[in-house]
Amino acid sequence: MTDRILRWGLLSTAQINRAVITPLRISPRNRLVGVASRNLAHAQAYAAERDIPRAFGSYEALLADPEIDVVYVSLPNSLHAEWTIKAVQAGKHVLCEKPLALTVEDVDAVLTAARRAGVIVAEAFMYRHHPQTLKVKELLDRGAIGRLRLARGAFTYNLDRPGDVRLAPALGGGSIWDVGCYPITFARAMIGAEPIEVFGWQVLGPTGVDEVFTGQMRFPGDVYAQFDCGFRATLRMVMEFIGDEGAISIGNAYKPGVPPDRVLLIRDDNTEIVAVPEQELYLGEVEDLADAILLGKPPRISLADSRATVATILALIQSAREGMAVRMREG
Ligand SMILES: NC(=O)c1ccc[n+]([C@@H]2O[C@H](COP(=O)([O-])OP(=O)(O)OC[C@H]3O[C@@H](n4cnc5c(N)ncnc54)[C@H](OP(=O)(O)O)[C@@H]3O)[C@@H](O)[C@H]2O)c1
Repeated sequence: MTDRILRWGLLSTAQINRAVITPLRISPRNRLVGVASRNLAHAQAYAAERDIPRAFGSYEALLADPEIDVVYVSLPNSLHAEWTIKAVQAGKHVLCEKPLALTVEDVDAVLTAARRAGVIVAEAFMYRHHPQTLKVKELLDRGAIGRLRLARGAFTYNLDRPGDVRLAPALGGGSIWDVGCYPITFARAMIGAEPIEVFGWQVLGPTGVDEVFTGQMRFPGDVYAQFDCGFRATLRMVMEFIGDEGAISIGNAYKPGVPPDRVLLIRDDNTEIVAVPEQELYLGEVEDLADAILLGKPPRISLADSRATVATILALIQSAREGMAVRMREG
């Protein structure tokens, strides 16, 4: 055991920072010490409002602070890999918002840089660490629904903020990168394999990013996954797993704790509500990274996992563009 405390810096003043600020305050092994913005006055105001000790007027300045151990990269998607690599080269561990990168080559560059620097990099998919997700995996692994045949999931909402980074092609916008990644990663993690072949359809919006995406994935052993995501439908964050002896239905798969978050186990005529322990939604990703840094445990979301996520999304986008299935490997 170690009594070392990890000192964190936030790379940007993004909206999503609020998600990790609470966990960093409640976790005894972690402490929030700094925030950086492209604008010093903005960083100072942000820090003062949230009682963060240090404010930096550039991302470089935060990375140069030797008293910061871990950096949370909450920049727009197109900047994730670049700033993760810069942070790693400055000797920092990194928790990077999803998606870790927009190309497989960039994931590989992150991996090489992290190995060279001897630091940990993990992609921030909070739901993967939550007891609800771990419970669903346990049910599937112990055959609670028999043999898994199909995973179905969706993450949609109405995006009504003009100028949002999610609508900018140059910043890595688009619904599949923003929210499609949730059902895609959930299905892959529960099936425990990577797709052999994928098919996608997309509806592009006026800025050129996909505002609606629907896709299918074929896995080894005749297991399938279907998902939809988008910025043009009511809020849905569901997942469903169908086996030959039952089904699991998850009301809120990615933000457990936010209603309707019931997990149902359905077998024959019997529907059971599965008990799930409560946990602060974003605490798991912070503690998992601390375990990796302080205790040497492998992070739950490995860089190989992130690489496969990026490869799958790119294959789906290619399929939607070309109007035909994309084969990812033999099978
Ligand atoms: N895991 C989750 O639950 C979750 C939820 C929401 C978002 N996210 C992820 O978090 C990331 C940020 O999303 P967000 O909605 O929080 O974004 P946001 O509020 O728009 O913040 C992005 C920040 O990036 C900085 N930035 C640097 N270059 C920029 C540029 N060219 N254009 C705009 N901003 C720029 C800005 O900070 P400064 O001005 O301070 O430099 C800005 O505040 C995304 O990758 C998203 O996928 C994750």
